[in-house]
Amino acid sequence: LNNGLARTPQMGWNSWNFFACNINETVIKETADALVSSCLADLGYIHVNIDFMFDLQSTNLLMFFCKMLNSQGQLVPHPETFPSGIKLLADYVHSKGLKLGIYSDAGVFTCQVRPGSLFHEKDDADIFASWGVDYLKYDNCFNLGIKPIERYPPMRDALNATGRSIFYSLCEWGVDDPALWAKEVGNSWRTTDDINDTWASMTAIADLNNKWASYAGPGGWNDPDMLEVGNGGMTYEEYRGHFSIWALMKAPLLIGCDVRNMTAETFEILSNKEVIAVNQDPLGVQGRKIQANGEDDCQQVWSGPLTGDRMVVALWNRCSKPATITASWDMIGLESTVSVSVRDLWQHKDITDNASVSFEAQVEAHDCHMYILTPQAVVSRSDV
Ligand code: DGJ
Repeated sequence: LNNGLARTPQMGWNSWNFFACNINETVIKETADALVSSCLADLGYIHVNIDFMFDLQSTNLLMFFCKMLNSQGQLVPHPETFPSGIKLLADYVHSKGLKLGIYSDAGVFTCQVRPGSLFHEKDDADIFASWGVDYLKYDNCFNLGIKPIERYPPMRDALNATGRSIFYSLCEWGVDDPALWAKEVGNSWRTTDDINDTWASMTAIADLNNKWASYAGPGGWNDPDMLEVGNGGMTYEEYRGHFSIWALMKAPLLIGCDVRNMTAETFEILSNKEVIAVNQDPLGVQGRKIQANGEDDCQQVWSGPLTGDRMVVALWNRCSKPATITASWDMIGLESTVSVSVRDLWQHKDITDNASVSFEAQVEAHDCHMYILTPQAVVSRSDV
């Protein structure tokens, strides 16, 4: 979407994967504090995004409306979980140098059956802007069977009309192949259904998102859903692969764990500056799976171009035993005569300054190595 935002994929935090419905303003404020004190904010994680926010306990529909709409029919946050209101929360998050994200739904209700924004786009966008919101995640429940391509543009127009710069994240779950139409509608679009904190879910989602690689670019990114790193359902190596591949695919890097209580391993993964730099590389080309060998295609090479004629290469062993995986120049699109230096982004080490034709590494089961290949300056005859 040509609104000046998302020149590189968005980075930040979202409440859903860890907290689900158990959020309140204290959690949001403490998360903002933790992003700053841990230095994750300095590394680019600046969006603090409240997912489903209207934490009403009652199941009585009439009560929802009485409680959730004020006398002018405007959305109001729940008085027990967000008693200070969103404006003051936004002020707090802004005072930390961060941005506040909010959530609504392109349907008549949100997934937890609270008021959605369908047919109320202008009123809701106006109130989000008046609260000082910087980011809207727009979900897909209770959509009356109307196609996403009809339901998502009205909120784009309403946000634009507020005059406030608001990142627009489409959460249409990959329905109707959004990569084909969403570039003019949002700053990112989901390519799949929800991720969960398992190896099977994460790898399946990576493959689905890979399919749409050629449609991503500055202004609009494929979104394979938020990170599960640190939530406990995968091993350290599996999370490292999750983070590497999301970075290489130019996916949004939205942390989904409780950053107030991270382990050292979780922090090490999320704070890997060299991997983050791949994600935020200004060339903005989504890397993709370029080779899959072995049983069930589990020995994989993923790769993509970076600025300065560099390439990122991930050797991802999705097999259940160690494997030697080879990336050849031919496969990743380098001239066969080119020599490159190879830097390992997880060991933070230069492996060689003179690799040619191919390179290989032994990769443990479910682990992922990630490298940057930098071509050597070609020495011309006149230089000799
Ligand atoms: C479905 C979305 O895909 C999730 O990311 C999350 O926002 C939930 N809805 C909230 O109900």
